[in-house]
Amino acid sequence: MQERLRHFRALLGPTPVTPVTLDVGGRPRTVHLKLEGHNLAGSVKARTAYGLVRGLLESGRLRPGDRLLESTSGNLGIALAMLARYLQMGFTAVVDPLVAPESLRRLSELGAEVVTVTERDASGGYLLSRLDRVAQLLEENPRYVWTNQYGSPDNPAVHRELTGPELLGQLPKAPDAVFAAISTGGTFAGVSRYFREHSPTTEMVAVDIEGSVAFRGRPGRRHLSGIGASRPSAFLDDSLVDHLQVADIRGAAHYCRVVLREAGLHIGASAGAVLAGCARYLEERPEAELVVCLCADGGEKYAGTVYNDHWLRSIGVTPPGGDAPDSALSGTAILSGVG
Ligand SMILES: Cc1ncc(COP(=O)(O)O)c(C=O)c1O
Repeated sequence: MQERLRHFRALLGPTPVTPVTLDVGGRPRTVHLKLEGHNLAGSVKARTAYGLVRGLLESGRLRPGDRLLESTSGNLGIALAMLARYLQMGFTAVVDPLVAPESLRRLSELGAEVVTVTERDASGGYLLSRLDRVAQLLEENPRYVWTNQYGSPDNPAVHRELTGPELLGQLPKAPDAVFAAISTGGTFAGVSRYFREHSPTTEMVAVDIEGSVAFRGRPGRRHLSGIGASRPSAFLDDSLVDHLQVADIRGAAHYCRVVLREAGLHIGASAGAVLAGCARYLEERPEAELVVCLCADGGEKYAGTVYNDHWLRSIGVTPPGGDAPDSALSGTAILSGVG
C-alpha cells in the first residue's frame, strides 16, 4: 500500500496561481488566486486525504482489510473515497444535509458508503452529530479506522510540507498577505507554519463564516459546507493567525459572482468568503501589493447555493446585486491583530 500511496502523491498539484483584478473601493487591485479546484478530486482536501492516510499507514494503524472512516462536509470525503479506491480499500463517509447533491453523487460513484446525520448540534451545525456517529461506528466495527481530520497532526503537517512551499514558490516575491478559509483549520495552520519560517513578513489572514466557532466566533446556524465549524479548531492559535475575518453568505456569494463575471473563473463558496475578507483587508491597506487567496475548491458544486438567488432568498439573504461590493461586505467583520 505504501508504494500505491507514493503513486497517489504524484497526482497531487501543483495547482495554478492566477492574478485577477477586483474593484476595491473604486480602485483596481490585483489578487492572486491559488485554484485548488484544479487539484485531484477537485479540492485542497486531496492533499489532506493523502497526509492523513500516509500517517496512518506509516504508524501501522491502517492495515490491509481495514475500512477508512471520516466525518466530512464533502470535499475530504470525495478525496478519501478516491484514495480508498486507489488503495483498494473501503470508505465510509459520515455526512449531513448541507452536503451538495453533486458531492453525494461523486461519493457514490466512487463506491463510498454514505451515512447521513440529520440532527443539528447545540451550536447550530452538524459537526458534533457527525462525530457522535463516527464514535458509534468505530465502536461497532473494529476494522473501521478514523482518519480524524479534526485532531490528527498529519492534517496541518501535510499542508506545511506540500501546500505552503508550493504556493510560496509560485510567487515572484514574499506576499504581503495570504488568505485561507478555516474549518478544521488544518490547511491554514500548515500553510501559516511554513510561511512563518520562510516568509515571516507575510500576514496570515484566516477567514471564517458567521455562526462558526472554528476560531473565536459566536455559534449560530450555518448554511454553507466547507467553511466554519461547530467547535474550535485544534490546530489554530494566535501564533499562526495575524488577522481573523468573519464573512457572511452575501459577501461570499457576491465575490463568487464577481470572479465569474470578471475573470470567467468558477470558485467555490468558501473561496468567495475568502475574497470578501481579502477585499476588506485591501480597502484598509492601500499599500498592499501582492496578496494571495487560497481557493479551496471550484464552483461546480455550488450552483444550487451561492450562485442561486432563489436559495439565498430561501435562507433570508438578499442576493447581491450590481457592483456594490461595500453593501455585499456589510456583514464582513475584521478582527485585527489577534496574533
Ligand atoms: C470548500 C472548503 N473550503 C475550506 C475548507 C477548510 O479547510 P480546513 O478543514 O483545512 O480548515 C474546506 C474543508 O473541508 C472546504 O471543503
